[in-house]
Amino acid sequence: MARGPYPRSRPAPPESEPSWDAVWESHRSAFEGYLEGLYFSAEPRLSRLVEAMRYSMLGGGKRVRPTLCMEVARVFGADPERVLPAAAAVELIHTYSLIHDDLPAMDDDDYRRGRPTTHKKYGEALAILSGDAFFGEAMMLVTGEQEGTPEQRLEAAHALAAATSVEGMVGGQVIDVESTGAGSGADPETLSLIHGFKTGALIRASARMGAVLAGGRGGPLEAIGVYAGELGLCFQIVDDLLNATATADELGKSAGSDAEKAKATFVGVYGLDGARGEADAALDRALGALEKVEPAPTGEKTGGLRELALFVRNRGS
Ligand code: IPE
Ligand code: IPE
Ligand code: MG
Ligand code: MG
Repeated sequence: MARGPYPRSRPAPPESEPSWDAVWESHRSAFEGYLEGLYFSAEPRLSRLVEAMRYSMLGGGKRVRPTLCMEVARVFGADPERVLPAAAAVELIHTYSLIHDDLPAMDDDDYRRGRPTTHKKYGEALAILSGDAFFGEAMMLVTGEQEGTPEQRLEAAHALAAATSVEGMVGGQVIDVESTGAGSGADPETLSLIHGFKTGALIRASARMGAVLAGGRGGPLEAIGVYAGELGLCFQIVDDLLNATATADELGKSAGSDAEKAKATFVGVYGLDGARGEADAALDRALGALEKVEPAPTGEKTGGLRELALFVRNRGS
């Protein structure tokens, strides 16, 4: 992970467990190298679009989704580097979602990952079009660059497209925008729908792509889906918590803005302690699902996914 703040205070892993720090570093360096090397166009008239895209995608970020995709592939027995095109694809879709999320028509934010947002630096037209281009580039990566059987690649592309679609990230963003102003009056069912769609869907797709491309099927594939769904929910509840409790410097993006705009968030509806409890419960359900992939307490295979879930819950940015 780029800034990799995994909890360092955990007890030393048993002998049989890999060193997770080494695993994360291996995923991170392979992923960053792959992303850095992505080619979009040499056409001089498109150089500003390419510059805006590279500015957005190479500006840091925790890389949770690609790390998840690669680690799930490893759990299902594949070389994690085999799924780099799919891992990059989901990060490109995520980047597109962030660029559009920050636009004046949506959250109207000026900072992201500690730097001016894409529309602040390149203007709104290029920001919108960079996001649009990322969608196409992502689909080209999964369908054209990803190894696997035709069925596996089709399944991966379908999972990513579905997660970006109406009952996915885009739909979640629509309900989020339409619920802005509701604040503490947002109803819990709508809130779960927003979080499951706008954030959970892409996180689930990251895991599903890693699993199907590694040949995963049956009960373990289903269990990984449950794990990733709960991880996605936990991820967005923690994002809500951090918006309310951390500083803009710590986050590299605006803080306190959800309350100012009366966004529909877990903190708004359940309060700080209530939201913490909901995040803990989602974490517990995610960890419980892992036991269906590999019975406790060995953790040899799924220990990394366990660490990733703890990181998502305990992160400070
Ligand atoms: C932020 O996602 C937007 C949400 C879906 C909550 P991340 O917290 O993964 O953002 P980066 O990629 O690390 O900047
Ligand atoms: C972002 O949700 C979700 C997507 C970009 C799909 P938020 O608006 O809550 O995330 P931040 O806090 O701006 O990163
Ligand atoms: Mg938003
Ligand atoms: Mg936002």
